[in-house]
Amino acid sequence: MLNPFDIVIFGGGGDLALRKLLPAMYRAYQEGNLPEGTRILPTVREPAKQEEYVEMANQALQAHLGQGEYNKKDWQAFSAYLVPVVINVTEEDNHWDTLKSILDTEAEDRSRVFYLSLPPAVYGRCCEILSIKGLITETSRVVVEKPIGYCGKSAEEINSKIAQYFEENQIFRIDHYLGKETVQNLMALRFSNSLFENMWDAKVIDNIQISISETVGLESRAGFYDKAGALRDMIQNHLLQLLCLVAMESPHKLNANSIRAEKLKVLEALRPLIDDNVDKNIVRGQYVPGDLAGKLVPGYLEELGEGSSKTETFVAIRAHIDNWRWAGVPFYLRTGKRMKKRCAEIVVEYKKVSHNVYGEGVGPIQPNRLVIRLQPEESIQLTLMSKRMDNLEMQLEPVTLNIELSQKYTNTYYSDAYKRLMLDAAANNPSLFIHRDEVRQAWQWIDPIIERWQKKGSPALYRAGSWGPDDADELLQENNHVWFNAGEK
Ligand code: BG6
Repeated sequence: MLNPFDIVIFGGGGDLALRKLLPAMYRAYQEGNLPEGTRILPTVREPAKQEEYVEMANQALQAHLGQGEYNKKDWQAFSAYLVPVVINVTEEDNHWDTLKSILDTEAEDRSRVFYLSLPPAVYGRCCEILSIKGLITETSRVVVEKPIGYCGKSAEEINSKIAQYFEENQIFRIDHYLGKETVQNLMALRFSNSLFENMWDAKVIDNIQISISETVGLESRAGFYDKAGALRDMIQNHLLQLLCLVAMESPHKLNANSIRAEKLKVLEALRPLIDDNVDKNIVRGQYVPGDLAGKLVPGYLEELGEGSSKTETFVAIRAHIDNWRWAGVPFYLRTGKRMKKRCAEIVVEYKKVSHNVYGEGVGPIQPNRLVIRLQPEESIQLTLMSKRMDNLEMQLEPVTLNIELSQKYTNTYYSDAYKRLMLDAAANNPSLFIHRDEVRQAWQWIDPIIERWQKKGSPALYRAGSWGPDDADELLQENNHVWFNAGEK
């Protein structure tokens, strides 16, 4: 069991803290995974907010926890862990001394986590003041959110600045997708089943699709999103991290350094997409008004309140990994807002059998398919061909082995990526966090795409509630492939 720790949440009144971080800690408490004596110190800018904070947290938990999770008794016990503090992260004033004196009431070797739930532009300054004010101990760690920077150069600047005050092994770069249960299950599936490990390369696999579709639009993040777009917001981090876990070689041990080294090799082997290869292999889109689950929703520009914007809310990419294992296998990456369904899944399509012994008339022999669904429900499905059992004729049809992970575990454990990652940071376990080299390499692949888009073209339009622009379907048709749309086929 973890020892009691302190976690300072900078930006404690912000959207991420209220929507994700506090619920994560509450769940940890409910499951008995939040050690007694732990302190959660959310920061707010004004003293008035400090007094209101506990009630604000109470409201946020009621709004953002799932059905049946909130109850008054647990809330009351959990609220005792909260110690709101006043801090303006860019002002080097004496509020920091107050924070230090609170933290210093505990032993120096207590785990101290500084969670920067802040815009990346102020990461450096916040770390600098932490250092000037003497808050960084040997057992301190800093957690930073993605995307780090807007391009390779700005990411390097931010990472260098943080590195002036924290050692690399104290820096925990979060990508919450890595904390999802099924994402870890992907590694379990690959590295503890010889069935898959021996069937995981270009000899047997035809193509792999990694898709994260969302039904939400801009939410309340127009300022951030219109500058970022889907490429920076989702592809540079979540999608590329999933790609790494699918494509990497087996690490010799499941420790942070080995995993990160293998992921880095995948990023290094990604075939660069430059100049007109960007146009040939990437589709970008932006949603216009459309019907989503029977309701008319506004387009991106209407939500933004601007007459024009070239920001992409959808991206589909045909990528290749130039190494022995994956030579010739297309990896299709796709993400979009306001799409038909919320779903994140990895689809591995195997090659067709080399010879059809049945000849014509038994029904088409479809290739095997493995679908690892991360959300909304967590499942693993394997589709095989089988004889129909309802007539004398030899007729084949696809059957699916379906492991409904979300149904199997129905106890009180709530799979929450932030909970897992915050507790990992407190326990000093960086396996599911991202190394600086990975950030650098990911941007190296993304930068030329951004450059091309700045010079040429604009997003293809797609209706809200659809699966994205037609161009994305055509991208796959060029290779005789089709998108596996959230279980629709
Ligand atoms: C975040 C992105 O990192 O991930 C959001 O900034 C996106 O734009 C979110 O909506 C999706 O996460 P999840 O866990 O809801 O799929």
